[in-house]
Amino acid sequence: MERWVADLLAWFHANPRPMPWRGHPDPYAVWVSEIMLQQTQVDTVRPYFARFLAAFPTVQALAAADDEPLLKAWEGLGYYTRVRNLRKAARLVVGQGGSLPRTAAALRALPGIGDYTAAAIASICFREPVPVVDGNVARVFARRNLLGGDFRKPAPRRALAAWLTPHIVASGDPGAFNQAMMDLGARVCTPHAPACLLCPLRPDCRAAAEGRQADFPEPPPRKALPERKGDALILRDAQGRLLLACHPGERLLAGFWELPALAALPFARPGRTRRLGVYRQTFSHFRLTLSVRAAPPLADAPSLPEGFCWCADPAALPLTTATRKILAAFPSE
Ligand code: ADE
Ligand code: SF4
Repeated sequence: MERWVADLLAWFHANPRPMPWRGHPDPYAVWVSEIMLQQTQVDTVRPYFARFLAAFPTVQALAAADDEPLLKAWEGLGYYTRVRNLRKAARLVVGQGGSLPRTAAALRALPGIGDYTAAAIASICFREPVPVVDGNVARVFARRNLLGGDFRKPAPRRALAAWLTPHIVASGDPGAFNQAMMDLGARVCTPHAPACLLCPLRPDCRAAAEGRQADFPEPPPRKALPERKGDALILRDAQGRLLLACHPGERLLAGFWELPALAALPFARPGRTRRLGVYRQTFSHFRLTLSVRAAPPLADAPSLPEGFCWCADPAALPLTTATRKILAAFPSE
């Protein structure tokens, strides 16, 4: 066993977390806890776990549960597919004699149990040396080993599991190894401001040595967003008032004022326009590119339909970000 594995286990035993399912002799109880922990924080799970086991103390009781008490016991935990799958799996287990399968591969075949939950149950209950690779564990090792890649994808997860396997075997205590890793990610090697001074992995941690904790894990690649193109016109009247259009519709930007698009002017196209530059902005669902243009001031300001105004003091109106930034970028226009 490498020293870091021994350090990790020593840290785990020296920093126990109050989790009523830890040390529980019944694999059914551990299974219930791991399903609850899939999408819910430890502190929230604790009281639910106790109530659930009181209501359904055995896999047989769960298999026989009616909808109403079952959903009631899960009420507020969310992700209700979890409890429906749990009962479905309980019925399969009861049909096979009532004992939970003892390997990760066999557990994986039950509804609601993925790689991570299968590895957790098999290691904790049956000492199978299969590593859990959840988001927390991936972050710890991305930092310790300076691993790039997106750990929500199967290939980097599998590669990390392969790297961890000899260490979990050498640890001699797969359940403690996995839970130590999960605890370390949740309590020490946190996403922001990891507590490296308290970390048992620090002597070998490359991110800590290089001060690069924040670079790992790599953020997921940015999605390719659709592109929207348009233009924005800076046009004033003889008194220097700016033409603005009110953003139409009921959508996000409704009620905000913005520079008008050439094609949307409420009067004949003004004389020759000059290109000032390009404005780019990324929204959650698209990327916007605006060609910014200016027109010579209009001597006679036409009266305007609803939705447009000649504005002497744009800063007094709610403006879209694009409009505010464009005006700031071209103060002399
Ligand atoms: N998250 C999911 N399962 C866990 C466990 N057994 N210990 C700590 N955190 C967990
Ligand atoms: Fe994470 Fe810091 Fe520990 Fe490295 S030393 S594993 S960055 S907490």
